[in-house]
Amino acid sequence: MSSINLWGYTEKNFQKEKYPLNETLFALGNGYIGTRGSFEEKSDFGGHDGTFINGFYDYYDLSYGEKYNGYPDRSHAMLNVTNGKKIDIYINNERFSLEKGTIKDYVREIDFKKGILTRRVTWISEKGDEILYESERLVSFYEKHLMISKIRITPLNFDGDIRVVSYLEGDVKNITKENDPRIGVEFHGDELKVLECKIDNNRGEIISKTKSSNLGLICLMANNIKCDDQYDSFYEQNDKSVSHVFNIKAEKNKVIDLEKYIVYKSYKNELNDNLYSEVIGIVEEAFTKKYDFYKQKQKEFIDDFWFNTDILIDGDDATQQGIRFNMFHLLQSVGRDSLTNISAKGLTGEGYEGHYFWDTEIYILPFFLYTNPDIAKQLVNYRYNLLDSARKRAKEMQYKKGALYPWRTINGEECSAYFPAGTAQYHINGDIAYTVCKYVEATNDEEFMVEKGAEILIETARLWLEIGHFNSKGEFHICCVTGPDEYTAIVNNNVYTNLMAANNLHNAYKAAMLLQKKYPAQYKKLIDKINIEESEIDNFEVAANEMYVPYDEHRKLYPQDDSFFDKPKWDFIDSEDKHPLLMHYHPLNIYRAQVCKQADLILAEFLLGGYFDREQKIRDYDYYEKITTHDSSLSTCIFSIMANELGLYDKAYDYFGDSVRTDIDNLHNNTSAGIHTANMAGAWMSIIYGFAGMRVEDGALRFSPHLPNQWNSYRFRVSFQRRIIEVCVTKNNTEFKILHGEPIMIYNEEKSIKVV
Ligand code: BGC
Repeated sequence: MSSINLWGYTEKNFQKEKYPLNETLFALGNGYIGTRGSFEEKSDFGGHDGTFINGFYDYYDLSYGEKYNGYPDRSHAMLNVTNGKKIDIYINNERFSLEKGTIKDYVREIDFKKGILTRRVTWISEKGDEILYESERLVSFYEKHLMISKIRITPLNFDGDIRVVSYLEGDVKNITKENDPRIGVEFHGDELKVLECKIDNNRGEIISKTKSSNLGLICLMANNIKCDDQYDSFYEQNDKSVSHVFNIKAEKNKVIDLEKYIVYKSYKNELNDNLYSEVIGIVEEAFTKKYDFYKQKQKEFIDDFWFNTDILIDGDDATQQGIRFNMFHLLQSVGRDSLTNISAKGLTGEGYEGHYFWDTEIYILPFFLYTNPDIAKQLVNYRYNLLDSARKRAKEMQYKKGALYPWRTINGEECSAYFPAGTAQYHINGDIAYTVCKYVEATNDEEFMVEKGAEILIETARLWLEIGHFNSKGEFHICCVTGPDEYTAIVNNNVYTNLMAANNLHNAYKAAMLLQKKYPAQYKKLIDKINIEESEIDNFEVAANEMYVPYDEHRKLYPQDDSFFDKPKWDFIDSEDKHPLLMHYHPLNIYRAQVCKQADLILAEFLLGGYFDREQKIRDYDYYEKITTHDSSLSTCIFSIMANELGLYDKAYDYFGDSVRTDIDNLHNNTSAGIHTANMAGAWMSIIYGFAGMRVEDGALRFSPHLPNQWNSYRFRVSFQRRIIEVCVTKNNTEFKILHGEPIMIYNEEKSIKVV
């Protein structure tokens, strides 16, 4: 029997040095609240405790040595909010803490089926008092504003005083700028100001307000103690924190249970009576229904998720655990209200400031689209809701028409202060457009296309006409952009960007034609709203058809962009111990050489596979593999998928191995700052698009399955056009089965089959 926990992640002995990392790995979330896996009791093991609310941020001014037109004036970042987790325990006046005393037994576990975090410690104080400490923590999927902590203390060898102090702490700060461009913010610690801190009706309350984004947060706690011992209880408070204190005359072997209900609700502008009553209602209901009710609901929600989502891998437990860990964290991180999204680090840490990137569309959305399409719909709706900000951003950049989506954002405003590897990544427009079409294709949600999708496609397409030009030969060129590879910046005709732009332009034209023919009233409404002429729409198709894509006839290779092959190759030997390169070299030194941070051309060959023939893909793969560092966690999954497509099965498995356990094994050495959500979904893609060879082309599902040598079999489910299809790949064959919905025609290894 393997010792790997297939449905969870376990820490069997307390590892002090891994505390910051484990704060991330044991983080809980429900897409609205996210909280790091820090201990309840005050501990100093070098971690960064944090609780976050998706979409809750404050602004900070961006300062530049030299500021040019169109540089954003300010950025915003996800805030660390009121700490509701903290509970301290004093055993005969000695504070329970793993920093001292003796740990006799310890186990901490996050359970992917139950959606809870548990810890069990037998601890002996310095004076010799022994207790059993057990805790459970849940961030509710059923009631998104609710988090519950449950602790149980059992005195094992003494009668005496036990004091339990349950806090709400409003004095919280974000991590300030560290020497890593990926972590930390220009915050000063006064971004979330406590307006009111009070005790009311046996509840603690903290109301806070952001310094400049005009967002408010109300946080309540209610504690319920159950014990047969005698106790008294009272509250203490200061300007920024409230605590509920219980003094217990504990008796040996008698348990003390405390359930703590914590409610978070964010709001815009002012707190009104209705909202306040709503929040009180949530905490009162929780107090009445009790923990076990929410624990049961949590399980039901997660059971549904796994029904659609689970991948069963027979023969490779480490991978089995890794992929479930990833899928579970993706669920915990994703905003499901169309006003929030999924950040690069989910809700597990402050890396990348809680920003949403193209990671959503190109990496994460496919995972939800083919497992939980309702969530995918919320993610595309989010982009629609941002369209006005994107139009505004296009104007700020002096474009007359169209929309430019922000490279990184929470609320729709561009947060990127570094344009070469940020703002210049205009491919974000093409990525969003690509995904809008994939969403409609996989769900048949034509209503979305008519009401929202066409508008996104047309507004993003307009921008390509603004920034690109027809040269004297009539070719459409796009200059001065950065493609996905952030080690090559500000180039002309990046192949990925140009092809995604062509796809965007073509699909905008197609959407306009669809509306014109089938939905003339909506078409009229749309062209009036965005003030577009038919000639402009025709021009989309011309630009798409004339899109220039550089090609090196001599080498028979695609250069990543016009000048890529003119650059010298990077010295990989010299930089062997200097990864990621971005932490060791000035960006210009990197930009000047042929070196890639991540898949760029290879990603284009995956997403727009029909454009390239197989031989071409093999040549390009061979070339780009040698010059790619994979310093970005978004890279190896794409190399794995393409290796599978090209029959390079050992490579496919190796790259997949780098991706599937990136966080659980801390392979990038920075998981303490948060999980890598794009990579997590990328690992899912590596199985589904990679090993199983799934593609969706012209509205049809295709598979070309391969079973890695390391596995006996694997099984997964995909949602497609209102069906759930189960795919089971064994050594001898592949079986397809409809679990829900009508039969469907699909392709397996180019052969058309009917799945029933
Ligand atoms: C990658 C980007 C990505 C960002 C956030 C960077 O390291 O190069 O492609 O969007 O991380 O995950």
